[in-house]
Amino acid sequence: MTSIPSLLIIAIDGGAASGKSSTSKILAERFNLLHVDTGSFYRHITHELLRRGVLPTNLAALTLALTELNFTTQLQGRSAQLMIGGQPADHEIRGQNVNEHVSHYAAIPAVRQKLLGYQRGQVAVAQQHGFRGLVMEGRDIGSVIFPAADYRFFLHADPIERAKRRAREGQLDSIAERDRLDSSRKASPLVSPTGAIAIDSTFLTLEQVVEKMAAMIEKKLS
Ligand code: C5P
Repeated sequence: MTSIPSLLIIAIDGGAASGKSSTSKILAERFNLLHVDTGSFYRHITHELLRRGVLPTNLAALTLALTELNFTTQLQGRSAQLMIGGQPADHEIRGQNVNEHVSHYAAIPAVRQKLLGYQRGQVAVAQQHGFRGLVMEGRDIGSVIFPAADYRFFLHADPIERAKRRAREGQLDSIAERDRLDSSRKASPLVSPTGAIAIDSTFLTLEQVVEKMAAMIEKKLS
């Protein structure tokens, strides 16, 4: 599955606001990895489909629209940015409208299928740019995208603590509803896959979570 075995692949899954992004970015710095935030990919596609007026309930229009989307990648620092038709992701992908709709689009198998090869292709992007590997965060990375990753982490945190984190970021986000939709969908649901290392970050600082993961990675690397 991870066709380039010499590259290090770290998968980090977890619910909304579980700390995946902050952790992944620090690990990327520390181990010279490409950082891939797959949530931003789903957000960007959602934004584009909403812009085109294609609703998740209109499968025929959605399938057609997906065939028209052309994906490329641009690096922003260490992070892989999805470009659609040469355009970078809009800052609005973190806004309330996308927050409300993204899980509905992400539940559609055709949308996930469209992103599958693109996500796996990030290994080649990491290699081309001289990274030691990649750290990819999302909901189905350890279960579907890279089930044979070198490390598969699953981050938990108490929902009340996660809601507070979002509020501190000044974002309006119904994380409980997104988690419910993401966990209950048929296509690649949010699950902690068998064999993944589960970490509860409710009472841990970001630094403590990172140190826990880094210690495991370093132990195996050495
Ligand atoms: O990670 P973030 O909260 O930005 O993800 C936004 C949404 O994208 C999630 O709520 C989920 O519906 C979808 N997603 C997904 N699979 C992934 C990453 C994100 O379904 N691997």
